[in-house]
Amino acid sequence: MGQAVVLYLSNTGHTQGVAEKIAATTGAKLMAIKPQQAYTAADLNWQDNDSRSYHEMHGGRVRPAIEPVDGAAISQATTVYLGFPLWWATAPRPIDTLLDSVDLSGKTVLPFCTSGSSAIDEAVRQLRVDYPAVNWQDGQRFTSNVTAEEIQDWSSKA
Ligand SMILES: Cc1cc2nc3c(=O)[nH]c(=O)nc-3n(C[C@H](O)[C@H](O)[C@H](O)COP(=O)(O)O)c2cc1C
Repeated sequence: MGQAVVLYLSNTGHTQGVAEKIAATTGAKLMAIKPQQAYTAADLNWQDNDSRSYHEMHGGRVRPAIEPVDGAAISQATTVYLGFPLWWATAPRPIDTLLDSVDLSGKTVLPFCTSGSSAIDEAVRQLRVDYPAVNWQDGQRFTSNVTAEEIQDWSSKA
């Protein structure tokens, strides 16, 4: 395997914890995707049809601005572990912002998520439709207590 990076979005720490374990287990470079405007608790209220997250996910083609990422490290990588929380069973819009701004075509991308209970399959189905040049692998939902052994099994599929 060539170089690998872990790119992740995490607003309340769950996905970050898993991303850190993936980096520690695989040796991949850890890189956060940071929205320029961080999400507040009110922004993340999925029960409020007027919250920022609700509008972003139900408002068509929204691309919230993100902080610049290390494009050189990403372009050198052959494997990308791409992590995010599930929002309405799909990837939050800042993931689309990232995928629109860096070229992952031809790279092996292993999507992973944390969630309350939803499976990752619908999120990956949409990512495959929207970004067909990426070599998407099947996704994996992890819980915070995922073990190094489970990560090893999963990452060895890259
Ligand atoms: C706006 C919003 C929508 C969510 N939608 C779902 C969902 O559809 N299914 C689910 O299982 N969990 C859902 N969740 C729960 C998150 O996926 C879960 O808390 C996740 O671990 C948060 O990750 P983070 O701490 O890295 O931000 C949602 C959370 C938020 C804030």
